[in-house]
Amino acid sequence: MKIPLSKPYVDQEIKERVLEVIDSHQYILGNHSKHFEEEFAQFIGVKYAVLTSSGTSAIFLSLKALGIGHGDGILVPSLTAFPTVEPIFHVGAKPIFIDIDETFTMDPKHLEKVLINRSQLEEVTKIKGILPVHLYGHPADMEPLLDLAKHYGLFLLEDCCQAHGARYKGKRVGSMGMAGCFSFYPSKNLTVFGDGGILVTDDKTIAKYCRMLRDHGRKEKYEHELVGYNLRFNEIQAVVGRLQLQRLERFNESRRQIARWYGAALKGLPVITPKVQDWAEPVFHLYVIQTSKRDSVANYLKERGVQTGIHYPVPCHLQPAIKNTLDPQLNLKRTEEAAKKILSLPIYPGLEKEKVDFVCATIKEFFNQSPVLKED
Ligand SMILES: Cc1ncc(COP(=O)(O)O)c(C=O)c1O
Repeated sequence: MKIPLSKPYVDQEIKERVLEVIDSHQYILGNHSKHFEEEFAQFIGVKYAVLTSSGTSAIFLSLKALGIGHGDGILVPSLTAFPTVEPIFHVGAKPIFIDIDETFTMDPKHLEKVLINRSQLEEVTKIKGILPVHLYGHPADMEPLLDLAKHYGLFLLEDCCQAHGARYKGKRVGSMGMAGCFSFYPSKNLTVFGDGGILVTDDKTIAKYCRMLRDHGRKEKYEHELVGYNLRFNEIQAVVGRLQLQRLERFNESRRQIARWYGAALKGLPVITPKVQDWAEPVFHLYVIQTSKRDSVANYLKERGVQTGIHYPVPCHLQPAIKNTLDPQLNLKRTEEAAKKILSLPIYPGLEKEKVDFVCATIKEFFNQSPVLKED
């Protein structure tokens, strides 16, 4: 049996509609892009959506629109994809790393501690914003994060790249901060068969600014109000995105069902299964277990045809590209512990129960053979 970690969804209708767009000869930011933006904004429950070339560029444009630049600091978790952090550097600002809570998302208690002790930090970096990540499809604990943002006069920008459709206390992620950024990378809950992204916001000025900036700063075809970029979206991917959006709730329900199967089948084994808070409606972009035998379990599964992943083996604050720019005393205990134990199991819409059972039976077999049966 071969079981991949993730698999993009494709069907005949999507293939046929792609061919129609090819024949239309309209390829960049056309009608499908316009409709996709309207439909995505409506799905999230906000006024505006702006398609971009990737999730990374959605974060970059949002930070530009929020006026972030040299000397500014952004509070951000370290257990995330490196692209959460890169745009902070690209606008000239610096990340200030925050530890995670039991759901692997930004810990509001650690954030508060950092903000209380901010005077030392602010001698070099003016803290401007908070950038939580709804990691693995589980929402960050938004209420305390938003309260802290309000109390300290900071903006909050949501990284929703792994959480299309997830809800926090009934609200869709992406609808609570100044803006929310999504990725359509092939493994994501909603994909467009290539790179792509979108930012959503209720703020007209942010939407307008990002819309211009993504397309050479232009207002009209030959009138450039800003010096911008080429971070545009294309029509073939827009038609795919529109059709995937129609199927997204079904995809997410399938992912939740798979998570329930894993939860039931892994019960009693020496692994920690994902914690879901009462207030969360997660979308299980990834199904992440924890075990101190992580590498051996992963190898055992690999030898039996099961692909796994580690998201992420090296937290951002330990990445060679930026490590030397950070405070050497920085201690993110939970993040560093998690990075040693986390293991992502296969999950994608339509993954069959028999395959989930096979993965779980293989993990069980591993522990039956292993001398250490208790998870520490
Ligand atoms: C949490 C997170 N943030 C940002 C990104 C960047 O998205 P993209 O790959 O579309 O640039 C990703 C995807 O890799 C992600 O998972």
